[in-house]
Amino acid sequence: MKFSLGLLVLLLGAALVAADRDYEGYRIYEVIPSTIDQAKLLHQLSFEGFDFLSESRLLGHPSQVIVSPEQLEQFQQLLEAHQIDSSVVNSNLGASIAEEFAQRQMQRLLSPITGKGRLSNERYYNHEEIINYIDDLAKRYPHRVYVKTVGWSYEKRVLKTITITNGDGKAGKKVIFLDGGFHAREWISPAAVLYVIDQLVEQFEQNAHLLQDYDWVILPLVNADGYEHSQTGTLARMWRKTRQPYNYAGQTCYGADPNRNFAFHWNEEGASSNPCSDTYAGPTAFSEPETIVVRDLMHSLADRGIMYLTIHSYGNYLLYPWGWTSDLPDNWEDLDAVARTGAEAIENATGTVYTYGSSTNVLYIAAGASDDYGYYAGFNVSITMELTGAGSIGFNPPVTRIDEFVTETWIGIRAMAEKLLEMY
Ligand SMILES: *[C@@H]1O[C@H](CO)[C@@H](O)[C@H](O)[C@H]1NC(C)=O
Ligand SMILES: *[C@@H]1O[C@H](CO)[C@@H](O)[C@H](O)[C@H]1NC(C)=O
Ligand SMILES: [Zn+2]
Repeated sequence: MKFSLGLLVLLLGAALVAADRDYEGYRIYEVIPSTIDQAKLLHQLSFEGFDFLSESRLLGHPSQVIVSPEQLEQFQQLLEAHQIDSSVVNSNLGASIAEEFAQRQMQRLLSPITGKGRLSNERYYNHEEIINYIDDLAKRYPHRVYVKTVGWSYEKRVLKTITITNGDGKAGKKVIFLDGGFHAREWISPAAVLYVIDQLVEQFEQNAHLLQDYDWVILPLVNADGYEHSQTGTLARMWRKTRQPYNYAGQTCYGADPNRNFAFHWNEEGASSNPCSDTYAGPTAFSEPETIVVRDLMHSLADRGIMYLTIHSYGNYLLYPWGWTSDLPDNWEDLDAVARTGAEAIENATGTVYTYGSSTNVLYIAAGASDDYGYYAGFNVSITMELTGAGSIGFNPPVTRIDEFVTETWIGIRAMAEKLLEMY
């Protein structure tokens, strides 16, 4: 390896612990590797405490990484020494977070919680509002919609699925299982899932063909605790994990990465055993009550499971198994055809380009993720969708653009469901 390990060791000292912080003076860099050595070097940083908001292994594809004031000088030296193409996309993350919160406070005054009827795409909702919304849909559409309590988060927030049918009463239809909100800070994920619910329930006539042969089971918010935590204030905005406390070397660090906590090649690659890391796999597989809920849903639905789809942010990717190895599953051509259809439909409609492929071959190897588990559990197709990023923080577009992003996401999801109808 040509790159300087000396610099990496220096950087190690400034490792970022997953904790609440104000991000004052932190920058977001976009880095674009053009050689394999550069890509390897950048990837190494993700093990040295650098928080990557989006990270691809494809040469020429941008990744975004947070750099603290303490890390800055060495990081810049590293970029220079290895001539890595880079630009600063945010020169003070803390200021952007503060600004976003101020806008959010205002928005709440302008569009207060009603808990009734269609949620607008004008702001991001909290756990209670999301639960109220699906409960209300079940009351208004009792023939087509069914809400079920499927468990509780670590902090005892209720987790509910909404099952959407066409009301013909036929049992045993194939199932599309959709979830969102695995990672707390990715607020656009539950927003996009709520829009899917709206389309399938309120815009039923236009989408009846998607409910003819399939029922949709949707868990809009997996990591309810983390999501609520990320909404408590500016310090918590970048929270990613769940909220169960773990002790480590005399300190308490919170949460595991729910998308590294599944018992399929658990903690083999691309996850951390350190509870203070953002990619902590947990002390054991399924240590988190939230991932147990998803696991049990998968097993209960798998014999009818046509597709498992999980919504994350960001980077514009449609990814399929495997994530634990660079090998491809037997029916990878089917998976590829579904992902390609979603990407094409979005590009045709909006011009946004999604990259598709297997997780390991597009991103980096990462074991214990829910898409691998869903495929292993028996879903014929399993896809992780990383939505478009926008705005100064990336994970959630400014509220003025939610509508644009969730409608784009729906175009891709609808096209993938239509492709499945052709295939199976
Ligand atoms: C999954 O694929 C297999 C093989 O093509 C097929 O027999 C099975 O019916 C499919 N599962 C569902 C739920 O459609
Ligand atoms: C996208 O547009 C191309 C060119 O018009 C067309 O061949 C293709 O079927 C479209 N794909 C989808 C999924 O809409
Ligand atoms: Zn995510």
